[in-house]
Amino acid sequence: MNQPPAPTSDPPASAGAGPGPEGGNPLAQRDERWQIRVRGLHKTFGPQHVLRGIDLDIERGRTNIIIGGSGQGKSVLMKHLMGLLKPDAGQIWVDGVDVVPFNASDMGKLRRKFGMVFQYAALFDSMNVVENIAFPLIERYKLSRAEIMERVRDLLKRLDLANVDGIEKKIPPELSGGQRKRVGLARALIDRPEILLYDEPTTGLDPVATKNVDEMIRQTADDFGVTSVVISHDMASTFRIGDRISMLHQGKIVVTGTPQEVLASRHPALREFVETSGLVAPENGGAEA
Ligand SMILES: Nc1ncnc2c1ncn2[C@@H]1O[C@H](COP(=O)(O)OP(=O)(O)O)[C@@H](O)[C@H]1O
Ligand SMILES: [Mg+2]
Repeated sequence: MNQPPAPTSDPPASAGAGPGPEGGNPLAQRDERWQIRVRGLHKTFGPQHVLRGIDLDIERGRTNIIIGGSGQGKSVLMKHLMGLLKPDAGQIWVDGVDVVPFNASDMGKLRRKFGMVFQYAALFDSMNVVENIAFPLIERYKLSRAEIMERVRDLLKRLDLANVDGIEKKIPPELSGGQRKRVGLARALIDRPEILLYDEPTTGLDPVATKNVDEMIRQTADDFGVTSVVISHDMASTFRIGDRISMLHQGKIVVTGTPQEVLASRHPALREFVETSGLVAPENGGAEA
């Protein structure tokens, strides 16, 4: 948070289209605090109404956590944020622009604002570390090999990978789990995104590895000044790293706020979530008796 977001490419050509500022809509302008504002988002798959009117604000430069039970639609919501899915209804304002009406080409440009860190790093096993990290650059731009190597090596250094012997030529199966996570993070960071999305980054990890990933998320937020959106079902890690926490339940955001505000919430779904995690004693468990 001690750095401004990295510069990105120009906004899409149709920025300002849609319900523009002429209507006096406060959502239709860049807000210092809120980078993404979701309003009334609905998504149905066949008979299944997964998102039922999502309202959500994502705070710029902060670590925003989305919690909720499995199958509640967390991944579906995240895919909407970066334009991988189109909603049936609702708006997604990114820096004051409703991106829902964007065509494929505008979406392509918008997506460069985002970096995505996948659960199992999702690296290509047949490519070495440099090729994996550089992949988004090679796909998007014509850069010289020297420019690419400079950016890759800078990230290897910043992510504490530069001192691993022969790291550049290694393929993912030759790396430890933690190293793979950091290579996946490097690939998400290589195009200097403003917003980093993590979908359940600690699933399947033991408590020590979970703590390391938490540390990596916090450190990245501080060092790169990015806005982080993290989907999690791990309550301990949620409260360790979250600046803002929002709970998705039955298609809506039912609780949102700072960790203190969320812990104080009386919403039954939230209480159940917190209490099953063992983070706090049950309400009626006799703790105060
Ligand atoms: N592309 C899709 N087509 C049909 N159903 C989907 C699709 N993506 C997700 N779903 C359904 O939407 C629901 C929410 O999924 P998901 O967002 O993955 O849940 P989670 O909260 O565990 O991330 C699930 O019932 C899932 O089967
Ligand atoms: Mg999911």
